Amino acid sequence: MSASGAVLPLRFDGKVAVVTGAGGGLGRTYALLLAERGASVVVNDLGGNIKGEGKSSSAADRVVEDIRAKGGKAVPNYDSVEEGEKIVQTALDAYGRIDIVINNAGILRDRSFARTSDLDWDLIQRVHLRGSFKVTRAAWNHMRNQKYGRIIMTASSSGIYGNFGQANYSAAKLGLLGLSNTLAIEGQKYNIQCNTIAPTAGSRLTQTVLPQELLDALKPEFVAPLVAWLCHESCQENGSLFEVGGGWIGKLRWERTLGATVMQKNQQMTPEAVRDSWERICDFENATKPKSNKESISTLYEVLNKLDEKKGASMNPTSGSMQVSTSGPNPAEAVGKKIPLTEYTYTNLQPILYALGVGMTTKDPDHLKFLFEGNEEFSCLPTFGVIPAQDSMNGSLALVPGLNIDFTKVLHGEQYLELHKPLPTSGTLKSEGTIADILDKGSGAVILLDVHTYNEKDLVCYNQFSVFVVGAGGFGGKRTSDKVKVTMNPPNRPPDAIMRDLTSVDQAALYRLNGDWNPLHIDPNFAAFGGFKKPILHGLCSMGFAARHVLKQYANNDVTKFKAIKVRFAKPVVPGQTLETEMWKEGNLIHLQAKVKESNEVVLAGAYVILEEAVQKPKANGTGMKAQLQSDLVFAEISRRIKNVGKELVKKVNAIFQWDITKDGNTAAQWTIDLKNGSGELYKGAAQHQADTIFTMSDEDFIQVVSGKLNPQKAFFAGKLKVKGNIMLSQKLEIILKDYAKL
Ligand code: NAI
Repeated sequence: MSASGAVLPLRFDGKVAVVTGAGGGLGRTYALLLAERGASVVVNDLGGNIKGEGKSSSAADRVVEDIRAKGGKAVPNYDSVEEGEKIVQTALDAYGRIDIVINNAGILRDRSFARTSDLDWDLIQRVHLRGSFKVTRAAWNHMRNQKYGRIIMTASSSGIYGNFGQANYSAAKLGLLGLSNTLAIEGQKYNIQCNTIAPTAGSRLTQTVLPQELLDALKPEFVAPLVAWLCHESCQENGSLFEVGGGWIGKLRWERTLGATVMQKNQQMTPEAVRDSWERICDFENATKPKSNKESISTLYEVLNKLDEKKGASMNPTSGSMQVSTSGPNPAEAVGKKIPLTEYTYTNLQPILYALGVGMTTKDPDHLKFLFEGNEEFSCLPTFGVIPAQDSMNGSLALVPGLNIDFTKVLHGEQYLELHKPLPTSGTLKSEGTIADILDKGSGAVILLDVHTYNEKDLVCYNQFSVFVVGAGGFGGKRTSDKVKVTMNPPNRPPDAIMRDLTSVDQAALYRLNGDWNPLHIDPNFAAFGGFKKPILHGLCSMGFAARHVLKQYANNDVTKFKAIKVRFAKPVVPGQTLETEMWKEGNLIHLQAKVKESNEVVLAGAYVILEEAVQKPKANGTGMKAQLQSDLVFAEISRRIKNVGKELVKKVNAIFQWDITKDGNTAAQWTIDLKNGSGELYKGAAQHQADTIFTMSDEDFIQVVSGKLNPQKAFFAGKLKVKGNIMLSQKLEIILKDYAKL
């Protein structure tokens, strides 16, 4: 089959091609070759001089005549490539379609860089880069609609390698390669292919710089066959770059050294470290050849993973000489850092958009107050409180020293939101974030970010974002923190209520319009980098669904009743799945768990909502403290449990305990556990009968004690626990806390 080329000539019958700058040089030969093989050709040429000055129709006309004389089909066009629409329109008017665009028109304004004027720069960019953009864009939608297109960009070895006196030209020429690379990606699914050539040929552009023998050997006819092949429908090449000239063709690709990680564990990256690794950074031995952005990034991941493995080995004294290591976050420098204040201005639109984003619908009449600004009770859903605060989260990661942020590896782990006032339906809110703590979970680092959101001077809500950075652990940090807002498991009984909602396939696409732009929720490629089969729903969106289920089930959609919510994001949800919220009512503490119905997997775990009455009104001497304390939850739990066994405890303990809980040094709440009178009772406020023992402790330390992390005796000796009255009775209390406040 050696004669296969002759048997099956590559034909272009029925195809319509635009060749720009086809009045001479390379463009002319492309036009002639394509026309000779059946294409209908628009011969475009402005007919100016080599520097882009003047214009004339004669150049294009002559080529059209030549084509027609040979029996081919061609029409002239005399517009500048900067008017791309007109050139493409000529093709549509004459032949009704456009299949091939060869961006070839070009001029030169060579100057040493020091002498390059604005005009020298601008004209070159306009003709080469902007011109190719304009012509190609004008053709693009036609190609997309017909699911076929072939595009050529013309770069130059001056752009690839640089060339003295051609700064303007080199920049434009390599700009075209970037343009081509991206068009190749965007066009692929429409069968639009885009390739770039860097030709060398004798033409009026080169006749002053190349000797005659070379000009003869470098005929444009030795370039045109490559262009024709790349424009043929049977050619599958896409996104490639070729050097071509004198009958020779070579393909180019990027090469990258294995490189070196120059940052040492728990250290800043320094210029000295770069200098010391220079040889390895630049060593092309075993170099890789990334073909795409995806490949480039995934190679990077491989390198990082390898380094992680090696890092483990470096703990081993026998490999103490190992120099490569990734760094980790540096809590000492980061904790307490304030995130620059963020401002969020909104109108009625945003709360409505949010309500739609978390699945509210006009099908449900009592959703109207969240969807229609004209409704008498128009309100903001309580969980909208995360929206003004979310910008602080994005700002926080950059403030953690030693943390290499790879956004495909950042997961939202947990969320706590506490409302201090119903959210205004429009206005300007300011949020102040602080890095509360950084934890080392081995497989990753957890960044705790506290964000307080204010309306003027009033605290409206408080958020705690818990962000998990995969792969950033193992830096020798602590595993837990008293700053964490704890999760709670639901009671061990079937749920008291269940509500479910089908999420739409566009749920994440809609929810992101609230300003949560992470491409993980919309871009399949990005999601794939993160190891997900499809883009996933925002965890905060699932939280919004669950929260409104609770609000409807237990608070009649009254937003003033909603005090706080805590959730842990256990598994991803794919838009289109059914979210099912299971609820357990324990007083005004509503435990909840959300599942994906289709898979029965728990997606929100350890979660709860606190409704307003969860905090009982102070009976006497109450502090009237509004803000939610973590200890409130514990007392609510003790209260519930005492109810069943109160009588027994009264017999056993026979004492009254008063708790003074402090926050920032001030008494924030008082609680009394009366195990002396009647069948026992727990109430908020100071003891109404003489207390036997009064304990004073901070909210945080109290949580540490009941969760078993802080020993009460140690707390006492460390001055964290103050006891007045009968100190011996405190031992009895310890038993109660242990048995009745397990969280
Ligand atoms: P050429 O000067 O013979 O052809 C370029 C054509 O473009 C001319 O006919 C000119 O009138 C036309 N043109 C200029 N500005 C225009 C505008 N605004 N609108 C429409 N047409 C316009 O030059 P040659 O050598 O054939 O170059 C073709 C392409 O190949 C150019 O983009 C050039 O930069 C590139 N190239 C050529 C090399 C060579 O060795 N000849 C080397 C590297 C790149």
